[in-house]
Amino acid sequence: MNSNADLPLRRNMKYQEPISRRRTFAIISHPDAGKTTLTEKFLLFGGAIQVAGAVKSNKIKKHATSDFMEIERQRGISVATSVMSFEYKGTLINLLDTPGHKDFAEDTYRTLTAVDSVILVVDSVNGVEEQTRRLMGVCRMRDTPVILFINKMDRDGKNRFDLLEEVEKELSIELHPMTWPINSGKEFKGVYNIAEKNLLLFQAGTKGNEDILTVDNLFSAILDERLGEKDATTLREDVELIDGVHGTLSVERYLAGKVAPVFFGSAINNFGVREMLNTFIRIAPAPQSRATSTRQVDPHEDKMTGFVFKIHANLDPKHRDRIAFMRICSGKFERSKYFHHVRLGKDIRFTNPYSFMARDKNIIEDAFAGDVVGLFDTGNFKIGDTLTEGEKFYFTGIPSFSPEIFKEVVNKDPLKTKQLEKGLLQLTEEGVAQLFTQFGGTKKIIGCVGELQFEVIQYRLLHEYGASVVFNPLSFYKACWLRGADGKKLEDFLRFKQANAGVDKDGNPVYLTQSEWFLNTEISNNPDIQFHFTSEIHRS
Ligand code: G4P
Repeated sequence: MNSNADLPLRRNMKYQEPISRRRTFAIISHPDAGKTTLTEKFLLFGGAIQVAGAVKSNKIKKHATSDFMEIERQRGISVATSVMSFEYKGTLINLLDTPGHKDFAEDTYRTLTAVDSVILVVDSVNGVEEQTRRLMGVCRMRDTPVILFINKMDRDGKNRFDLLEEVEKELSIELHPMTWPINSGKEFKGVYNIAEKNLLLFQAGTKGNEDILTVDNLFSAILDERLGEKDATTLREDVELIDGVHGTLSVERYLAGKVAPVFFGSAINNFGVREMLNTFIRIAPAPQSRATSTRQVDPHEDKMTGFVFKIHANLDPKHRDRIAFMRICSGKFERSKYFHHVRLGKDIRFTNPYSFMARDKNIIEDAFAGDVVGLFDTGNFKIGDTLTEGEKFYFTGIPSFSPEIFKEVVNKDPLKTKQLEKGLLQLTEEGVAQLFTQFGGTKKIIGCVGELQFEVIQYRLLHEYGASVVFNPLSFYKACWLRGADGKKLEDFLRFKQANAGVDKDGNPVYLTQSEWFLNTEISNNPDIQFHFTSEIHRS
């Protein structure tokens, strides 16, 4: 079973039609670049929502129906990662939403393991920002195909050539302009669609009904008429230059994550969005094959396989049930059918699996590769768990990322030690935080990406488990997972560096470093040990 030679035998064209119709992706951006606004416009095009503002309200959290946690309502921050499915021109689109707040970035990183492609939104005024870089870094890990949307062209942004150069350089990806803007800010007149040879004239608040002007060639006098001579001339020169450099888009290179098609627009004005969506459904990958601990799984295989990438806690603290989000990787998922939970080695079935239509949960009868189903969970699932029809393997490529803030957990109520341990275990299984135990000791250290997560943990431990904790800040800056062929050397290192050494919840050795300098020193002093910033949840 260790080779892919038998793959053709497993492929079955039975599900070809539903699988080839599916596109599973995420919209990602640095906060405030316009991810939520763009998501909303997509949903409007897909008919999944009727009015503008429906997605925004999720961010503001006025409606209890989309809340899973009390804390979301209190803080007005989308902690949730959910799924929105809608149809557009016959394509079934699964849009995986990611939390906007940077403190929940790890949720976003993990969601990226469940998509086949992404749309990256960059603010034309701010250009590449911190979170843009990190998200792109995660996409890189799996060569995820990227489409770039340069947003807020209605604002005075950077020079478009400079901006593209900045993005190319900072994100190390080649860009391929598909549309080209005519000015920006108050002077923004629209975009020219290079492949379609038409001009979209900008009017604020067009709701996607742009004035589209088709031109036979760039030298058409209509351009001068509509844009003015100066802008028409600049556009001609720009497009000539771009055409000369880029030619036609190589879809293969896009699919390989080597080149990113670029669209310019204004999400809030629903301008330039439709052009991108039309291209997206044409070129974005259908469900892709995925690596497991034993072999590559093809989406067209007969048998159902999938993995859990996200676990949501229930809003109601009296019920500790959760929803596990599973990405289906092959075959057909069916309601009430028994599937094999590989880690637990037992068969379980789901009588009420959910699918997601915009913000509504619906019970579904079946789902196919590319879909995400919500499974009602009473504690069976951890992030990264695999379901199959009996075969024993784990999907790989689902990493844990190094936290950036570390705090020691101090138990305020010794009578509740058991509850605390249970709570910590469950919260870390949900992926809310990472838990480390001091090497050779009992000190518990929680690692998170943002401060806010500590408040979430404190709140949830108290309300769901009755455990009261405070946190002691620690001066670590990163956790590195250690590997080394020589077990003795690794053990010696851990013992020697006890104050900085720990194990993660699966017992893997970890080095907690105070600074880049310390880390680099240890790396050069210990050539037999490898330091990794991410840890595979399941190693092949
Ligand atoms: P995010 O999810 O990436 O965090 O960004 P979001 O869509 O919430 O957009 C952030 C802000 O940028 C919002 O303004 C939004 O209205 C604005 N915005 C989005 N697209 C455009 C655009 O094309 N042009 C301009 N000028 N602004 C845009 P806000 O004031 O924070 O929120 P709101 O009061 O508008 O809801």
